[in-house]
Amino acid sequence: MSAIRNSAGPSSKCRANSMSSRAGTRPGNTDGAIPAAATTESTPRKRPLSAERLEALAALAGINRLELTIEKIVLGGDGLARWRGMPVFVPRAAPGDVVEARITERRPSYARAEIEEVKTAGPLRREAPCPFYERCGGCQLQHIEDAEQLGLKVAAAVETLRRLGGIDPAQLAACRFEEPVSERTWGYRLRAQVHVAPRSEGDERPDGSVGVGFRRRRSHDLVFVDRCPVLAPALENELRGLSSLLGDRAAASRTLPSRLSLATTGLERDDPVVAAPPVDGLPGGELEIDLQGKRLSYDARCFFQAHGGLLESLLLSAVGTFDGEAAVELYAGVGFFTVGLADRYQSVTAVEAESVAARYARNNLRRNGLRHCRVERSAVESWVDRRRGGPGLEPGLDRVLVDPPRAGLPRKVRSALLSAAPRRLTYVSCDPATLARDLGDLTRDFDLESISFFDVFPQTAHIETVAQLLRRP
Ligand SMILES: C[S@@+](CC[C@H](N)C(=O)[O-])C[C@H]1O[C@@H](n2cnc3c(N)ncnc32)[C@H](O)[C@@H]1O
Repeated sequence: MSAIRNSAGPSSKCRANSMSSRAGTRPGNTDGAIPAAATTESTPRKRPLSAERLEALAALAGINRLELTIEKIVLGGDGLARWRGMPVFVPRAAPGDVVEARITERRPSYARAEIEEVKTAGPLRREAPCPFYERCGGCQLQHIEDAEQLGLKVAAAVETLRRLGGIDPAQLAACRFEEPVSERTWGYRLRAQVHVAPRSEGDERPDGSVGVGFRRRRSHDLVFVDRCPVLAPALENELRGLSSLLGDRAAASRTLPSRLSLATTGLERDDPVVAAPPVDGLPGGELEIDLQGKRLSYDARCFFQAHGGLLESLLLSAVGTFDGEAAVELYAGVGFFTVGLADRYQSVTAVEAESVAARYARNNLRRNGLRHCRVERSAVESWVDRRRGGPGLEPGLDRVLVDPPRAGLPRKVRSALLSAAPRRLTYVSCDPATLARDLGDLTRDFDLESISFFDVFPQTAHIETVAQLLRRP
C-alpha cells in the first residue's frame, strides 16, 4: 500500500475553490450542485440572479455550442467551465481542456454541455485505457492520468465540505487532513453488479445470445462488455466467459436473472469468485477473508468494501487507536469495522438492517469468539428512536462509528447522536455532499479532529472519507 500526496489536495489545511456535482443541482447554488440525497431535508436557498447571470441566460437561449475552458473537476467528476460567469458542467472534461461543447441543459443558475471536440487537451488528459469508457457509465475519470485523479477528487471533496452544510470554517481550519491514501488504480475491485439482457439487432454482436454489461452513461440502456479493467483479476476473468455461459443457460430455456452480483476475496487471478443469485455453472456460496487476525465470511449479496488493496488501511484508519468501554456501530454490514472495534472496546453493539448481512455479522462475531459484541438487526432510524420501541443511543458511550449509504444520516439519527453525545464519533462516508450536510449538524457539539480520504474507486469520481470527531468538552 502506498500513500500519495497530491499538490491539488490539502495537506494540513483545506484549500480548494468551489464544488459541484452532477445530480440534483438546484437554483440558488450557483456553481454548486448537490446530489439529491443531500437536498431532501434542506430548504433551497433562493438567491436572486445577478444582472450578469440574467444576461448570460438570455444569450444562452439562442446558442447550441460553446467554446469552454475547463477550470477544474467538481464532485461527481464533471469538469466546470464558466461562460459569461455562468457555471457549465461538462462530463469527461479535464482541467485545462479547451473544448467545443453542445449545450444539453439550461437552468437559471447553471448549464450542462457535452464535449463535441477537444480543441486543446489540458495537461492531465490522456486517452482512456478502457475501450468501453466513452459509452459506459461505470467510470468518470479514465481520461485523466492515474496519478492526478485522487488530488482532483480530494480538492472537490474538500470544497464540498467547505461550501455545503455550514460547517464552521474554523473547525475545518483546525482539522488535521491526513495524507490521501491510494493503492492500485486498476484491477482492484472485489465486487461488481452486472446487468444481463438478450442482445438485440442494434447490438454490436447481434448473435441472439445474452449480453452482460453496465448502464450506459446517463441512460438506462446497457453497454455490453467482455472485460472491465477495474475489476480484480479473478472477477475480470469470470466476466470474460460470462456472456457465453449465460447464453448457454438461456438456450436451455432456463430463466436468467436481470442482474448478477459477483464477488471475490483478493487481487490474485485464482482467488475464488461467487455469484448471486445462483446460476448453473457459476459458483455460489460464501467467501472468507482474513482481516487483522479475524476471519470474515460473506457472500455476493452483501455489501463489502470494494478496493482489495485498501481493506486494512481503511479499517485501521476508521477504528484508530482509541479504546474504552462501550461502542456502538451503525450500518455495520457483515461486521467489517465491528471486528476492529471488538479489540478496543469491552462491549460493541452493531446495528444493521439487511437480514443477510446481519446474519453474517452475527456469525462473524461468533466464529471469532467475540462474545462481548452483539448485532441488532434493525433500521438505524428505528433503533435510535426510543419512542418507537428502539433501545436508543444511550448517553455515556465511548464511541459511535457510522458508515451509512450514500444518502447519509437521516435527521433523526443526527439528532440521536447529538443527544447521546458519545465521547468519540467516527463517520465513514461514501458521499462528501451528505457528509458535509451531516457534519454541519454534528459539529455543533463535536469537534472535527481529522479527515482521511481513500481512493476506493480509482477511475471513478467516488471517494471514501473517514472523519474523526470528538465531543466538545
Ligand atoms: C456503506 S455500507 C457499510 C457496511 C459496513 N460498515 C462495511 O464497511 O462493510 C452500509 C450498510 O448499511 C446498511 N443499511 C442501509 N440502510 C440502513 C438502515 N436504514 N439501517 C440500518 N442499516 C442500513 C446496508 O445494508 C449496508 O450494509
